[in-house]
Amino acid sequence: MATTDRRVGFLPPEVFTGPGRVTRAVVDLDAIAENAAHFRRLIGPGTELMAVVKANGYGHGATRVARAALEHGASHLAVATVDEGRALRAAGIDAPVLVLGPIGDAEISEALRSDLALAVADPLFARAVAMTAARLPLNSPASLHLKLDTGMRRFGATADGAVALARAIVAAPGLTLSGVFTHFAAADDPDSDLTDRQDALLDTVLDDLDRAGIPAGLVHAANSAAVLRDRRFDRGLVRVGIALYGLAPAAEGVPPGVRPAMSLVSRVARVVDLHADDGVGYGHTYRAGAAERAALVPIGYADGYRRGLSNRAAMGIGGFPAPVRGRVSMDQTVVGLPTGHPVEVGDPVVVVGPPETGAPGWDDLARTMDTIGYELVSGIAPRVPRVYLRRGHVVATDGLFGTEASSGC
Ligand SMILES: Cc1ncc(COP(=O)(O)O)c(C=O)c1O
Repeated sequence: MATTDRRVGFLPPEVFTGPGRVTRAVVDLDAIAENAAHFRRLIGPGTELMAVVKANGYGHGATRVARAALEHGASHLAVATVDEGRALRAAGIDAPVLVLGPIGDAEISEALRSDLALAVADPLFARAVAMTAARLPLNSPASLHLKLDTGMRRFGATADGAVALARAIVAAPGLTLSGVFTHFAAADDPDSDLTDRQDALLDTVLDDLDRAGIPAGLVHAANSAAVLRDRRFDRGLVRVGIALYGLAPAAEGVPPGVRPAMSLVSRVARVVDLHADDGVGYGHTYRAGAAERAALVPIGYADGYRRGLSNRAAMGIGGFPAPVRGRVSMDQTVVGLPTGHPVEVGDPVVVVGPPETGAPGWDDLARTMDTIGYELVSGIAPRVPRVYLRRGHVVATDGLFGTEASSGC
């Protein structure tokens, strides 16, 4: 029997005792809802909120995140790939979905059949979309958002080519120019003037389009960092990703009222007594200096608990940090147990969670790994079941075999 349930009061006990694999990602849909509502209030009535749910909703589960966000103020969704958009449609979501792209020509017809808006950066692609649209029995014109490269030097049309591209779109039967957008490269850096320069270049292109008599549709640029920084960048729509999940796009963190939605938990699989000089794990990269107790936790790098955390991170057991001992392996990790606290097989482990659990948060782990929270949450593997909470109770569990239990959410 677990001795330490009282220490993980931020989660209902059923999170640990429910059926299925003990290592699970717990996603509080109320946090997603409250975060969406926060940004909805922040941006004011003249601006639409687009929830960015690419990469399976940054690892949280795209469909359930999308529904929670749409119920609490988001009107649009963004994904990175056509398949991600199709998955939302297959789940019955009919809100406008933009594929941020780029995509291959072979994906265009599926995208149009699924009523996905596409990002377009060159006239050849626009022509390919027009030709595909002409062949399909579509109910409405194919929706395109002109993507402008204002300084990221990734995907996008140059400012010089934007008017010609927009002309090609509006001239083609079967296409509609629904929006013009760009993406900021350094909105998380308040010392950089790049965001202002990108924003100014977007204005120049919008003036050019205006002079050419081409309506731009929805104009959008701001990501989480820009939204958290300044109302100046909001325009017609903002694309909020990481902050919707309650994680920080920048060192400044997230404002009060925005909280992380996902924690990662497991249970102790074995308690082992280490003797002085015992090595732990592959390569014995940790050696016990003296007798010590350790616990085995069934999580590894194939779950997204990265090998770079070997000997560097800690997990929360009984409210105390239990440091990772030795290498994180594919499926298992050993942690040292805090002295003086009884720990038994089956006790809850908080791998990532709030500070009172003794576990690091996502942003803490990211700093340890010299990476960003984005990479860690989006890297949580499909084999880790997602357990969803509403009003403090488990409402659904999604695993490798789909939804294994649900009370409707
Ligand atoms: C084009 C585009 N817009 C918006 C976003 C959302 O960014 P963030 O998660 O920083 O809010 C991304 C994320 O990478 C993106 O690629």
